Amino acid sequence: MKILVTGGCGFIGSHTCCELLDNNYEVVVIDNLSNSKEDVIDKIKKITNKDLKFYKGDLCDKELVDKIFKNENIDAVIHFAGLKAVGESVKKPLLYYRNNFDSTLTLLEVMCKYNCKKLVFSSSATVYGNPKTLPIKEDFPLKTTNPYGSTKLYIEGILKDLYNSDHEWSIAVLRYFNPIGAHKSYLIGENPNDIPNNLMPYIVKVATGKLEQLSIFGNDYNTIDGTGVRDYIHVVDLAIGHIKAIELINKEKGIDFYNLGTGHGYSVLEIVKTFEKVNNVKVNYKITDRRPGDIDACYADCSYALKKLNFKATKTIEEMVKDSYEYAKRNS
Ligand code: WQD
Repeated sequence: MKILVTGGCGFIGSHTCCELLDNNYEVVVIDNLSNSKEDVIDKIKKITNKDLKFYKGDLCDKELVDKIFKNENIDAVIHFAGLKAVGESVKKPLLYYRNNFDSTLTLLEVMCKYNCKKLVFSSSATVYGNPKTLPIKEDFPLKTTNPYGSTKLYIEGILKDLYNSDHEWSIAVLRYFNPIGAHKSYLIGENPNDIPNNLMPYIVKVATGKLEQLSIFGNDYNTIDGTGVRDYIHVVDLAIGHIKAIELINKEKGIDFYNLGTGHGYSVLEIVKTFEKVNNVKVNYKITDRRPGDIDACYADCSYALKKLNFKATKTIEEMVKDSYEYAKRNS
């Protein structure tokens, strides 16, 4: 079975390509390298000792996407590609709507043309907004608080309408919680070029001396120690969740939505302390004001993903903080 992975050079995309190749799928990647590097393709080949096809380019380029489907006989698509920085999306909403909608609509139109109707879509827990209760179930109210999250929510709506228009589609929408960690080879991982928005890449840059001090955004939340609580999931577990989703859409038509998390929430301070203890390194931090748009706490009810996808995350928070650090020490 040949899988097109859009954004396959990215953090989650590259780990998913490794899992796909290890499970004997053929892989084709399209990536415009706007937030990744081309050498990731060689690292995936080295890790898996398998070949894969890479097309450098943009999903908004309909000619290129058509050429890929014409040449490659794609059986299914895992769609990661898109802009994903919450803060940037607040400053540049039109860029986010134009890019994330154009790329997705172009992909779907070409998939229809070539009768390729199996899709795994990369969504996000951010579609739940600030949940009233926890843990979060897939049928909770959906309410976004930033343009990035809204692109994910509206694309979920497009996919529902697409399925309602043609029941030949098989669509799995995966709502990620907070992915961290790295492949055990430490050849691939999360390594943003500029100042990181997210917690773990920032901690790692402080721990490796690249940045001076971590700012902990607020300690007056309604949580165990006042700092924000999130459901961190190892990126390799997340990648395995995509294999389970491919297996499902290969068997069943329809559209469904799945939380990919661990079901356990950790506070920022708990993450910092665990990171320091596991890696025997100090993380210099200070408490600052809340970050606008942040919520108190967020963690998944994972029972539906277990029931329908037979997916359960297995890696511990200790493995996550260790792998994040080991990768960064070798790659920054
Ligand atoms: C985690 C916690 C912060 C940075 C976002 C998107 C989500 C997904 C993951 C794309 C919060 C605190 C963070 C820092 C801090 N992205 N923090 N200092 O906001 O839960 O989720 O990224 O798919 O869709 O919404 O992740 O890592 O930014 O923050 O104190 O320098 O760490 O306040 O409590 P978030 P995050």
